[in-house]
Amino acid sequence: MNLLPKSKEEFAETDYWNAFFKKRGNKAFEWYGEYPELCEHLHKYIKVKDSILIVGCGNSILGNDLHDVGYKKITSIDISSVVIKQMINLNEKDRPSMQFIQMDALDMSFEDKKFSVVLDKGTLDALMPNDKNETIEKIDRYFGQISRVLRDNGKYICVTLLQEHILKKILGYSTSNNWSIQIIRCHEAENKTATTSDNTLPVFMVVCSKGKSTSPMVCSKI
Ligand SMILES: C[S@@+](CC[C@H](N)C(=O)[O-])C[C@H]1O[C@@H](n2cnc3c(N)ncnc32)[C@H](O)[C@@H]1O
Repeated sequence: MNLLPKSKEEFAETDYWNAFFKKRGNKAFEWYGEYPELCEHLHKYIKVKDSILIVGCGNSILGNDLHDVGYKKITSIDISSVVIKQMINLNEKDRPSMQFIQMDALDMSFEDKKFSVVLDKGTLDALMPNDKNETIEKIDRYFGQISRVLRDNGKYICVTLLQEHILKKILGYSTSNNWSIQIIRCHEAENKTATTSDNTLPVFMVVCSKGKSTSPMVCSKI
């Protein structure tokens, strides 16, 4: 079953994702690793009491796993109504506290400062296939929304391939908005992804803290 688009620009389109999740059915498709490979880093930056927003959740079970180990305040959104229905059906009985909402991450209806953590696994990469002006404008809207819904000192945690244009954009946004950044290489996620797909690119976790720094510092653990 071919789920890949003809061009990477399709990753930013709602119709592509609805068709993707219809074809995929209920079988989870995990981008860039799962909870077992990522938990060492996630537990360092997310506390059990945190109020977490997962943006572009897809049918990843990362949120379910976080819930099952004690994180109870989790809201997940996705642009695809197809996958949101699937996730509600999958979780409403066993995980009633988890919320799944169809919503555009570029135009969120949450109140300001509602969350202490925004978690993004693969969504920034999907939204930013290139560095054309229109894409950059979109990403400015995305970061603006994340910043709006995050509390002061809240964290934006992004699991990404961190291609050059994405690195530049995150660094630029953070510098202009006094966010601090840490970049961690996720070797275990990379190894897992290499065994289950053709991807042999490095996987990173970028942790940005809102309003933490007057001179943002990049600390790489590569
Ligand atoms: C690469 S997938 C990652 C899915 C999931 N986070 C994972 O790790 O498997 C990108 C996800 O972002 C969602 N998405 C794309 N554009 C979006 C938008 N504007 N708002 C919310 N979700 C979006 C897609 O529907 C898809 O589920």
